[in-house]
Amino acid sequence: MSPMEFVDLRSDTVTLPTEEMLDAIRHAKLGDDVFGEDPTVKSLEELAAERMGKEAALLVTSGTQANLVSLMSNAQRGELVILESESHIYWYEVGGVAAIAGLLPWTLKSQFGAFDPEDVEAAIRPRNIHFPEPALVCVENTHNRHGGTIVAPKQLEAVSRVAKAHGLLLYMDGARIFNAAIALRVDVREFARHVDNLMFSLSKGLSCPVGSLVVGTAEFIEKARKNRKILGGGMRQAGIIAAPGIVALEKMVDRLAEDHANARFLAEGVSKIDGVKVDLKRVQTNIVLFDISSLGLADNQFIIKLEDKGVLALMHGTHVVRMVTHFGIEREHAEKAIAAVAAVVDDLRLNG
Ligand SMILES: Cc1ncc(COP(=O)(O)O)c(C=O)c1O
Repeated sequence: MSPMEFVDLRSDTVTLPTEEMLDAIRHAKLGDDVFGEDPTVKSLEELAAERMGKEAALLVTSGTQANLVSLMSNAQRGELVILESESHIYWYEVGGVAAIAGLLPWTLKSQFGAFDPEDVEAAIRPRNIHFPEPALVCVENTHNRHGGTIVAPKQLEAVSRVAKAHGLLLYMDGARIFNAAIALRVDVREFARHVDNLMFSLSKGLSCPVGSLVVGTAEFIEKARKNRKILGGGMRQAGIIAAPGIVALEKMVDRLAEDHANARFLAEGVSKIDGVKVDLKRVQTNIVLFDISSLGLADNQFIIKLEDKGVLALMHGTHVVRMVTHFGIEREHAEKAIAAVAAVVDDLRLNG
């Protein structure tokens, strides 16, 4: 919970470290990780690689840095990368894909984040003097802007087949991949096995203060380590960050199911309020999107009114509100959020 006892549903990034994480930080064995001497970082990287069924992993500062390092390590400047048109890399990472990695983003629309393999096939044009070399396909899982939707292992497999057939690599922005695995009740390796490499975040549903991991082959991670360094991401006693990451992987994964149950409860509650529309098919993990266009409010008016009732949310575009459940949000908080939305809608009706 945030200060002042607000119910903070803006993002799962607002989570604070658990007591066990703080203890782990206090007692972490440290060294200079740029010299490869931090034992806690090494343990986390080994654990992350093992959990994903890959050879190696690299701790980086953020999800954005993980994606950038991965783009740079999977493709050469001037090459083409196929991105989903609503993807985080395309929307929210300051255009680093073009500005720093030097890649040409080629966007494709999708159904809830999952590409139609035929669209991917069609986007990979034959090699020709006029065209950039296609190098990489990126998928996002769960898909943030689609509302935390899951790209199922079968769907990944189908895209992987197309990418492989044309000699392209497949990368997964798996910032919330553990949410997908818990929701489908499958091992996270079932997702990871279909992609060449991926990243996942520690600082979202897993409640760590900082950090993401890039995971893939040993050769890829060697390149990624160099690219992290060029971006200024070489960290010294990074065991301070890695220690809570180990706690997260051991203790915080299974509980994501509670966040999903609370998101479903919240979505169903909100969907019963007149004037609010929820596409319940999209509520597959911990994100709830609801459409308030019929209320006729501009800009941030709805969420400002919600804040007055003690609930924090974010706008997602001009007429969609986003709420995200996470560690620290219990059923009673979801109830409070439903009541707050209902009260804002009632006030609007009464006051015109
Ligand atoms: C799907 C996805 N990828 C990447 C990121 C970037 O992570 P960070 O905020 O740690 O840079 C986010 C953040 O919300 C995200 O939702």
